Amino acid sequence: KDESTVSITVVGASGDLAKKKIFPALFALYYEGCLPKHFTIFGYARSKMTDAELRNMVSKTLACRIDKRENCDEKIDQFLKRCFYHSGQYDSQENFAELDKKLKEHEVMGVWECLAKFSFPSVVMWIGGLSDKNITSDYWSQMDTALLLSEDIPSTFRNEKQRLQCMKELNVQGGRVSNRLFYLSIPPNIFIDAVKCTSSSASSGLGWTRVIVEKPFGRDSDSSAALTKALKQYLEEDQIFRIDHYLGKELVENLSVLRFSNLIFEPLWSRQYIRNVQLIFSEDFGTEGRGGYFDNYGILRDIMQNHLLQILALFAMETPVSLEAEDIRNEKVKVLRSMRPLQLEDVVVGQYKSHTKGGVTYPAYTDDNTVPKGSLTPTFAAAALFIDNARWDGVPFLMKAGKALHKKRAEIRVQFRHVPGNLYNQNFETDLDQATNELVIRVQPDEAIDLKINNKVPGLGMRLDHSNLNLHYAERYSKEIPDAYERLLLDAIEGERRLFIRSDELDAAWALFTPVLKELEEKNIIPEYYPYGSRGPVGAHYLAARYNVRWGDIGIEQ
Ligand code: BG6
Repeated sequence: KDESTVSITVVGASGDLAKKKIFPALFALYYEGCLPKHFTIFGYARSKMTDAELRNMVSKTLACRIDKRENCDEKIDQFLKRCFYHSGQYDSQENFAELDKKLKEHEVMGVWECLAKFSFPSVVMWIGGLSDKNITSDYWSQMDTALLLSEDIPSTFRNEKQRLQCMKELNVQGGRVSNRLFYLSIPPNIFIDAVKCTSSSASSGLGWTRVIVEKPFGRDSDSSAALTKALKQYLEEDQIFRIDHYLGKELVENLSVLRFSNLIFEPLWSRQYIRNVQLIFSEDFGTEGRGGYFDNYGILRDIMQNHLLQILALFAMETPVSLEAEDIRNEKVKVLRSMRPLQLEDVVVGQYKSHTKGGVTYPAYTDDNTVPKGSLTPTFAAAALFIDNARWDGVPFLMKAGKALHKKRAEIRVQFRHVPGNLYNQNFETDLDQATNELVIRVQPDEAIDLKINNKVPGLGMRLDHSNLNLHYAERYSKEIPDAYERLLLDAIEGERRLFIRSDELDAAWALFTPVLKELEEKNIIPEYYPYGSRGPVGAHYLAARYNVRWGDIGIEQ
């Protein structure tokens, strides 16, 4: 029975991410009964808006899962009643202090109850007298003063450890503490200002304060380190939740389950049996108005250095000591640090060009108004990476990521070695090279795990084909899969850090990509142009062929 309050502030509430992902995820958590009993949601942004206008904006983005349509409207109404708005600048201490006051108004009863447990009779009596009234910000400023006057209660706690220690000293158990979660859904140039204001003017006095930040975490090792340093001026590492939403995807979470709770995979999970691993991301649309952001980063920073590399780390790490966040993150850092920095000759870059199909003309990347003319920013890349440790020595890990390709897809493909001395070599119908086992983990869409095996085609002859052992989620599980943001927001509220990136992980990830990113820019490498909606540049095949690899997604049409 947790009696604490949680205030969730979405900073950048009128932005795309907030509307498309954060508010819907919060509502889904509310619907599922996963949010704490006492919660309040605040939107914070520069635009002027009333609470009613925010509710109206948010309501347009909410929907119930197909299997949860009952009481949907009622639930949406109840949820919206707990949503509020405050308009302010991202660098204004004053505006954040106003937000703080509003937050306190919603947290007041919780704090009052908690104070009662602190047993400061005079303070309690004084506040007790107010408890039936409509408590306003003015009362709060008076109460702040009272709290500050009381020498026993520190006015702020900078981190969880301090707070818990203080609570212990004051012998407070289970009081309704006010916790605060800030989701910074804002452009990187105003990150630090907003963190500074959050920390100094809107931190929780008696509970925890956590801040979720989303990439880009810099553009390279130096800028990322500078960002981390700046963040740590205002926040402790345990308050920072660096999100990589791919870690919240169902099949990415399942990767460790697959590996560590089945006997049949882990013994094969090494250079001895695995020929190569492919991490593939493709989208069937271009930058579509996001070119302004994208052009400064490109596909290697947007997808590879984070989403695909995180999957790679989970795929390739050693068995962690336990499922505790630090144990898992320690193993991820180890594997990242065992990797060779990416070399220019192991990268192919591409950019989509205009293409007309069925009478429709699809734009080139540089046709996006927000993209500078003549930009060389890659919208596609293929790369070969290597892990120089005993388990993976010599196994190519191939990545491919692109926008405006023919399909939307994210998957992991594990190609196994040939069966030595295979007695059935002459009975294969297909090319022998394609007759090796392959494990395909489809992250999206249509989540699935397929294991390709060689099988006898039924009949009197002896012909073998390559068939699938399928686990298709839609058929196997009748549940709709929660969005990645739901899992991650819930984890942040619960203080579970397993799926968030630690700063040393981030450093290790940048160390692998920074040299090649610099080289690509300094040498003005011209990307290979590929038509919008195609399978991407042919250079990706040459790169794979250099390592004796054939991309597994070729010819797959589902
Ligand atoms: C984001 C990238 O991190 O991930 C976008 O910045 C990309 O460019 C998006 O479109 C893809 O996420 P998802 O969950 O739709 O696959």
